[in-house]
Amino acid sequence: MRAVILLVSIAISSASTNKRNIVTVQSSLDDQYINPGSCGDYTNVIEGYRDAMYNFTIETYKQVAPRGTYQFVMSPLSMWITLAAMAEGADYYTQNQLFELLRIPRNQCIRHKYYQLATSRYSLTPDAAAVSKRALVIDEGVITNPVWHNFVTQHRLLDVLTAPLKYNPAVAAGSIRQAVYANFPRLDLRGNSVLIDTMDYNGLWNTAFADAVVKRAPFYSISGEHIGAVDLMTVKRHGKIGYVPSIQAKILELPIGVNNQYSMIIALVVGRTDIRPVIEAMRSTILSNVLASLKETKVPIDIAVPQFKINSELDAKVILEDLGVTSLWTDPEATRSISSPPALLSSYVQRATLTLNKHGINPPPITAQLRSFGPPTSPEDFFFSEFIADRPFMFGLFDTETHTCLISTMYTQPTYPN
Ligand SMILES: *[C@@H]1O[C@H](CO)[C@@H](O)[C@H](O)[C@H]1NC(C)=O
Repeated sequence: MRAVILLVSIAISSASTNKRNIVTVQSSLDDQYINPGSCGDYTNVIEGYRDAMYNFTIETYKQVAPRGTYQFVMSPLSMWITLAAMAEGADYYTQNQLFELLRIPRNQCIRHKYYQLATSRYSLTPDAAAVSKRALVIDEGVITNPVWHNFVTQHRLLDVLTAPLKYNPAVAAGSIRQAVYANFPRLDLRGNSVLIDTMDYNGLWNTAFADAVVKRAPFYSISGEHIGAVDLMTVKRHGKIGYVPSIQAKILELPIGVNNQYSMIIALVVGRTDIRPVIEAMRSTILSNVLASLKETKVPIDIAVPQFKINSELDAKVILEDLGVTSLWTDPEATRSISSPPALLSSYVQRATLTLNKHGINPPPITAQLRSFGPPTSPEDFFFSEFIADRPFMFGLFDTETHTCLISTMYTQPTYPN
């Protein structure tokens, strides 16, 4: 019962330090946490943070996309924070591996600023709900290093929870699944701990789709084959639109939230090309290219985007193993400063859910207020006068302050397949 209660506390996002487990353990971590040093003349933290995030986002996207049907949602941000928390307590070898993958600099002052930026990207306002939960669930009786434990909870990187993983694995697994609303078929409890993280984004729009007309429409594959149908939300809007030749995609940006806190960036693959090599060839610079391609159009754009909900449960451990992170799961030395006995992680799963539908919060804009310059005149104007997502598209939720990606998605499978 205690496990159930502890786990349910993830749901209310308490950064609860599990006091009962805090005892004094000698630690070499003390020193670096107490004295993070100075940032030197490194002033542009946002730029470094963004660069780190872009690289990690693309690297994980390329790993996840080819597994399965190229339809998925994941949160690179949530995974980055979870791994950063583990890196903070890991031995030097594993820490290096993780810092390299996450592009986290060794300078502690800069590192802490990255953490501050990363954990403040989420929002739970009525107009934009983007929520992530992250936890290390350890077996009852495993004692965490209080220095590390305090660090990760105070920086809001990770919650630490206990469950009877060994004594009653069925109950422990049930509580974990219930607390994070996931099936987690691959939840392996053979170690003494598991990592879990979740990300939920509910696409509430300020003005984007409240007045949309929803209609059933055909959906096509990249090669133009009719593969099913979707419920398309169609509206006419001013917005920013662009084209990126390297991925042969038309790009649309839609602002979200009362203060345009986030923006949704959709990349619609318009070339009749195989998408696999396109994704394989992606570099982190693609994200800057996409953002740089966007321009406000003169005429309102005919926009059509499917209503959908995607839920993915990723075996993050397998993905990270393929990215070269190995000792974290197998070597007790790696986690000796995290807990006693050392945390032996048998699973790391991420659940991400993205819901995109027509419910908005503001009344729709009055059509007469739209500036209109008449019908498009040039072929280019015509190309940019519509954005009809009736074929596979990639999609990202970005925050406006740092332009980093909270959620990355690919949509290829229509709601109503043929
Ligand atoms: C990110 O990747 C780009 C190449 O795509 C590279 O030039 C850059 O140095 C990388 N940044 C970091 C922080 O690793």
